[in-house]
Amino acid sequence: MPQSRRPARSRKSARARGRGHGRDAISLLKSDHAEVKKWFGEFEKASSVVRKQLLAQKICMALKAHTTIEEEIFYPAFLEATGDKDIHHEAEVEHDGAKKLIDEIEAAGPDDDYFDARINVLAEMINHHVNEEEKRGGMFARARGSDMDLESLGEQLRQRKRQIMEGGEATASGEPATAMPPRRGRGKIGAMLSRNGKGRDARHRAS
Ligand SMILES: [Fe+2]
Ligand SMILES: [Fe+2]
Repeated sequence: MPQSRRPARSRKSARARGRGHGRDAISLLKSDHAEVKKWFGEFEKASSVVRKQLLAQKICMALKAHTTIEEEIFYPAFLEATGDKDIHHEAEVEHDGAKKLIDEIEAAGPDDDYFDARINVLAEMINHHVNEEEKRGGMFARARGSDMDLESLGEQLRQRKRQIMEGGEATASGEPATAMPPRRGRGKIGAMLSRNGKGRDARHRAS
């Protein structure tokens, strides 16, 4: 009978997906993209300085974690499976550009005249990069057409991301990740957020 084609195991997988587990690598990366895109949209509409600072910090942290897991896990697997140096190298160069801008945003802080401009340019860069990854014939489409084990990579990405977000792990740029003590610039945003009791760093210090 048709309904017997999907046994209990599939229903369990569907439930697991609902809890955020069981997603493959591409679905996990695309969901990161969507989350950051949403925050960029909220930044554009925000008028309060504190709200903008919160969003900027969330965006920078999320992008650093995302680029790290792509560079450490997904991109090498992609290159090995497809041998497509053009797509791979272009993606890494785009990451480098975004990371430089993220460093500038964190170093300058919200008092800088160029704060909004930098976030807006970062949004444009990420928009372009995400489109390159998700478009027809782009990296994710090539990955889907290859023999990459996307389920296993998804699990690796998820674990590494959790490690980074919990803090103390090095990022792709060799810097400590999210729970590091405030460094130059990061402290400007972080200090203001801590005063509001909403900063991630503040939560970590409290725990
Ligand atoms: Fe990505
Ligand atoms: Fe990327």
